[in-house]
Amino acid sequence: MTVDPNRSDNHARLEPRDTSVRATILEALDSAIRAPSTHNTQPWIFGIEDDPAAVTLHADTTRALEIADPSGRELFISCGTLLHHLRVALAARGRACRIERLPDPAEPTFVARVTIGDAIAVTEGALALEAAIQERHTDNGVFERGELDESMLSAVAKAVDAEGAKLALLLRDDERARVADLVAVADRSQQEDPQFRDELAQWLRSPIGGARDGITVRGPRGLVEPWIVRTFDRGDGEAARDRALIFDGSPCVALLTTVTDTQMDWIRAGEALSAALLCITDEGLSASYFAQVVEVDSTRAALAALADGRVVQVVLRIGRGHSSRRSARRPVREMLR
Ligand SMILES: Cc1cc2nc3c(=O)[nH]c(=O)nc-3n(C[C@H](O)[C@H](O)[C@H](O)COP(=O)(O)O)c2cc1C
Repeated sequence: MTVDPNRSDNHARLEPRDTSVRATILEALDSAIRAPSTHNTQPWIFGIEDDPAAVTLHADTTRALEIADPSGRELFISCGTLLHHLRVALAARGRACRIERLPDPAEPTFVARVTIGDAIAVTEGALALEAAIQERHTDNGVFERGELDESMLSAVAKAVDAEGAKLALLLRDDERARVADLVAVADRSQQEDPQFRDELAQWLRSPIGGARDGITVRGPRGLVEPWIVRTFDRGDGEAARDRALIFDGSPCVALLTTVTDTQMDWIRAGEALSAALLCITDEGLSASYFAQVVEVDSTRAALAALADGRVVQVVLRIGRGHSSRRSARRPVREMLR
């Protein structure tokens, strides 16, 4: 498979030892960092080992969200999405790999070691998922009305199953109304906390300045948005906006769940989330999230009733969107140990 020569200058600057495996690892990492992360924090650090060739993936706790995500749950989910993206990127470059999750109990931020295996045939499926990595982006816009094709949604649920998690698809109005109520409670609860608003404001970026992380707020609002977010409790407005988005712009709401709620579950949930998103993209659909309802303990507990009592890790909305905005990433060389 060819690599776009315009993509980034990571490889030249890193001056890797000129072995093909090392070059493949760097190319795969360059692709894998397109993985989604909360507030686009990109909370990962990589090491590259020789003999046997391996990538080590570590959580970058300096990029943790201490107020919104005090347990680090979403930090590890984000690292899990990176891990799955890396598996896909290696397969698309004809490399098998062996994964050890949490390989060192003494080092809980050591998420995984990915040992590079034999050369393997590159399948059509692997190339389709690699293409989806490049195309996928979060779409917070209104999705088209109308039912979604059942076979598409069951393909997404199957992709999640294969990663050891489950996806509950909420298509009925009463189910979505319950989610909307809980999202509204969570919006108000977070917005009334000045520390939450302050942390969110720290990750907002104006389009000027070429930020490589965080959430870019486009247009002239980008310059004042951090101040607005810090200063005003907009809980009622957010709740009303999210309620309208669920009813009028989200044909499907989906709950990604696990049985238990350990650090290993969070990593696995991240891998399952990546698998879901790449399948959604491959099916020509879009997705975005309602993290607040999982971040607030009481609303998260209430969501379990919609998911057979399982532990909810991610709430997604799925539909046909129209945005094509690509968010920024830091270069791989800044993420190496
Ligand atoms: C676990 C998780 C939760 C997220 N929650 C939200 C959310 O509540 N609202 C939102 O707009 N984006 C959410 N995102 C999306 C990130 O903001 C997004 O992935 C990041 O900004 C990078 O943009 P991209 O997905 O378009 O590449 C979440 C992402 C992850 C991995």
